[in-house]
Amino acid sequence: MISGFPVLTAAEAASLVNNDDVIGFGGFTPAGSPKAVSRELAARAIAEHEAGRPFSIGVITGASTGPSLDGVLAASDAIKFRTPYQSDPELRKRINTGRTQFFDMHLSQLPQAVRYGFLGDLDWAVVEVCDIKPGGEATLTSSVGAAPTFLHRAKRVILELNHRHPAALRGFHDIYEPEDPPTRTHIPIYRAEDRIGTETVMIDPAKIAGIVETDLDDEVGAFDEPNEATKMIGRNVAGFLAGELRAGRIRPDFLPIQSGVGNVANAVLSAMGSHPEIPAFRMYTEVIQDAVIHLMREGRILFASGSSLTVSHEVLRDLYRDLEQFRGKILLRPQEISNHPEVVRRLGIISINTALELDLYGNVNSTHVMGRQMMNGIGGSGDFTRNAYISIFTCPSLVKGGKISPIVPMVSHLDHSEHSVQVVVTEHGVADLRGHSPHERAEIIIDRCADPQYRPLLREYLKLGGAAHTPQTFENAYALHRAFLAEGDMRKAVIGTKK
Ligand code: COA
Repeated sequence: MISGFPVLTAAEAASLVNNDDVIGFGGFTPAGSPKAVSRELAARAIAEHEAGRPFSIGVITGASTGPSLDGVLAASDAIKFRTPYQSDPELRKRINTGRTQFFDMHLSQLPQAVRYGFLGDLDWAVVEVCDIKPGGEATLTSSVGAAPTFLHRAKRVILELNHRHPAALRGFHDIYEPEDPPTRTHIPIYRAEDRIGTETVMIDPAKIAGIVETDLDDEVGAFDEPNEATKMIGRNVAGFLAGELRAGRIRPDFLPIQSGVGNVANAVLSAMGSHPEIPAFRMYTEVIQDAVIHLMREGRILFASGSSLTVSHEVLRDLYRDLEQFRGKILLRPQEISNHPEVVRRLGIISINTALELDLYGNVNSTHVMGRQMMNGIGGSGDFTRNAYISIFTCPSLVKGGKISPIVPMVSHLDHSEHSVQVVVTEHGVADLRGHSPHERAEIIIDRCADPQYRPLLREYLKLGGAAHTPQTFENAYALHRAFLAEGDMRKAVIGTKK
């Protein structure tokens, strides 16, 4: 027994789950995601399938997870449906071949969708903690995600007590669940550092089926070293923001920053941190990545609010070594709060996210390759972009060795419309779309952001559209995509004929 709760092996815990059950897994990104029970669920699925019996479960998470959750469950065909976000190659393959049903959701909306009953009953919450007290008071680990809601709503609970995270993490979380309408009040965050909730989650002890002890690292991958293009994108974003500061459109003590996931986001933050005109700033973001911790150590970031510490092993190890130095400077919140539109708009957050592709008018596709293949999901990009003080999208001007231009005549899938997207940045430059008509936006994006190899094709497209308010032409809107699909290279597109 631990704190009066039965100790189970991961296999014993997995044996409690029935075919067709729906599980809410704690964690947010691989940070703080359960890793032991999911492995045994996958083993169980394989055994059941070999015995000719069905076994699959609904998997709801905070965001993406690691190989020990999405990876193994996908590989063993154990996922019946999946939401709200993923980034696992094996799962992605199954989603894109119709073998796993996945629905993409704004991450801030997931917890309330669970509470409202939109996703059906939640049979289990499986959540990683670093401490559990006899009355059911638990400290989460390196993330919060949707764990508080899963723990409240699930019929039963399994906890993974991961000794790799210190119990001294207590105090780094700010747990707050809003009331549901019509009795919801405002969320009282007026500054990025405002604490509004509790340090721990309270779990009904009667629901805790058992505790599985583990000693496992988070499965966060290392970041790539920034290349020339990502460094230039970073410098361009930092230069643009310094210009806004000079022009008085950003106040001298700056505004909180939200920065997206991935390598470009990491490079952008590093560039902001080393820009001489940008003062030390605060983060009100979803994912706290390596660059944030580095810049906090250098005094360039004063405070970080997020839903997870999605940092590499070395960075997390060093952070835990110096934990007291960071106390009061980091708060991990439920994704419903870290990404809440009300707070994003009140605080005046500058959002910086990465686009897969964007079109001449400023519409952005964050999720679908060639309109068909799901990459990861919209994540929190919509929560922040639509409500930001300034919304920025970055992308390289060329991918796949130049065979693809992420800047296209018309996006093949729409996540963020022209109304929400204010600034576009590639390694070539910055397109400030604020206050410009679609025609003007197209000119600015082609001149400042598109790669020179693609500018003639894009100009030709724009010319063909004539004087329309938004000069699209249905015959040619997907000429670049069609050329890539047919000939493996968008540069082979022919604009102007009904191909
Ligand atoms: N068409 C086809 N493939 C494209 C493409 C396009 N227009 N643009 C990029 N790609 C490919 C890249 O070549 C790369 O492929 P590879 O893995 O085979 O090398 C892959 O997509 C990822 O690109 P990369 O440059 O490594 O991007 P990233 O790590 O910066 O991630 C997104 C970019 C868009 C996938 C990622 O930011 C994302 O999932 N965003 C949506 C969620 C989000 O914004 N979350 C933050 C909110 S807080």
